[in-house]
Amino acid sequence: MPEVRGVFGRGHELGVVAAFLDGVRSGPSGLLLAGEAGIGKTTIWSAGVADAAARSYLVLSSRPAEAEAKLSFAALGDLLAGVIEQVLPGLPPPQQNALRVALLLEDPVGSPPEPRAVCAAFLGAIRSLAAQGPVIIAVDDLQWLDGPSAVTLDYALRRLTDEPVGLLASVRVAVGGPDTPPAGAGLPAGRLRRLRIGPLAPADFEAAIWASAGDRLSRLTTRRLFDASGGNLLYGLELARALGRLEAEPLPEEPLPVPAGLFGVLSARIAGLPAASRMSCWRRHASGPRRPRCSNGRTARRPGPRCSRPPPRGSWRSRARASGSPTPCLPRRSTRERRPRGAGRRTAD
Ligand SMILES: Nc1ncnc2c1ncn2[C@@H]1O[C@H](COP(=O)(O)OP(=O)(O)OP(=O)(O)O)[C@@H](O)[C@H]1O
Ligand SMILES: [Mg+2]
Repeated sequence: MPEVRGVFGRGHELGVVAAFLDGVRSGPSGLLLAGEAGIGKTTIWSAGVADAAARSYLVLSSRPAEAEAKLSFAALGDLLAGVIEQVLPGLPPPQQNALRVALLLEDPVGSPPEPRAVCAAFLGAIRSLAAQGPVIIAVDDLQWLDGPSAVTLDYALRRLTDEPVGLLASVRVAVGGPDTPPAGAGLPAGRLRRLRIGPLAPADFEAAIWASAGDRLSRLTTRRLFDASGGNLLYGLELARALGRLEAEPLPEEPLPVPAGLFGVLSARIAGLPAASRMSCWRRHASGPRRPRCSNGRTARRPGPRCSRPPPRGSWRSRARASGSPTPCLPRRSTRERRPRGAGRRTAD
């Protein structure tokens, strides 16, 4: 997938994250970055983690994956990975043993570790770390925390009183889904802020697409990508990549190619747009360069001749070639479509 370096836009969200980090010094608090798949939660979460590290806060982080949600204490192991040897000696022996067994550092002797002993050990560890300075518990994709880790995290967060500990978590929520915090975000409601991550601003979306796709897409086409993706850069980048396989950038009345995997999610979104903004003439586009077809049945503009020269190194087209996609160069854009050179490029915030 095309990658974008740096963070485009998100000034408000990064400001909220910075204010949250400021506030951690005065007591336990949490910030949940909630949003749909691909909207940019991890990007903001990562910027927050970097900000916390730059302030010399201790960051305990975990990025659980869906496939790991059934692995007991997997996330707890991530969170404590860098500090376990530091915190163990300060814990009472039964808690030390329970934590060692839970984290697979020791064979269980007799019965399995008492869950409450693991919870108490984690709370004790967080308290001792917080006595030395602010601690950020950073979890990306909180919804995939394994059950035992979520219970342990809830237990500890609920019992913190005035320690400088912050929970910075991202959580994926369905569009229009419920707003209840997932397991693991155990702070009282007054100490837990939920920040809804919405679409990127159009200018930031455009700059990010150009940063990924070179500056080869016209502003009009980039605007169509914004409308189709609802400002979701993950989807926008996928659409831009599908465009990269076409012989020519579609004219305004021509369909956008849509990767098969995105067709369902994007057509539901398009159906919700006002008729004037709806692109009625796009079609499923699995792979390879096919000529777009409009809803009136006409095929779109003929493909231009293939370039004999290879695309510039690092451009979206050279990457498409490298990945085996049979993508020819774009033919010259018509004057009507051509975007003024140098327009719209922005420096990442
Ligand atoms: N503001 C931004 N600046 C630069 N790139 C961004 C920005 N927002 C999103 N992206 C890019 O879009 C893609 C998806 O973003 P990200 O991974 O942050 O989304 P997500 O909400 O965490 O998705 P998921 O729900 O799948 O975890 C990534 O390639 C990321 O680099
Ligand atoms: Mg993510």
